[in-house]
Amino acid sequence: MSYDIYAEKIILNYEHPHNKGILKGANTHFKEYNQVCGDEIEVYIIINNKKIKDVKFIGRGCAISMASASMITDFIKGKSIKEIEQYNGDIIKNILGIDPGPVRMKCATLSLRAIKEAIERYKIKK
Ligand code: FES
Repeated sequence: MSYDIYAEKIILNYEHPHNKGILKGANTHFKEYNQVCGDEIEVYIIINNKKIKDVKFIGRGCAISMASASMITDFIKGKSIKEIEQYNGDIIKNILGIDPGPVRMKCATLSLRAIKEAIERYKIKK
């Protein structure tokens, strides 16, 4: 795919985000802030049999952070929590299809950090 197609995909996910909202029955959630700009994303997750059964998010942020949240929440459904614990910025670059660069990486990984922390909280409760 060309760079333009990836950029278009990011804009589409920003304007029409998937999995937006509060998830009823979530058994873990976490709100993460981007320390640089103060934007925030809160994720709600249902974990069942050590896998992501469902996930939604709320919050505000720039196009990269919102598009990334939309795409990563689609991506992790059905994945095991063990697998997600290994994810880092590289998975976000793959999902977005571009390297957002060092400054925008904090925006791009905001939702992933929230997801990983929510999983951590879930494990502590168990
Ligand atoms: Fe705030 Fe990107 S500028 S999350």
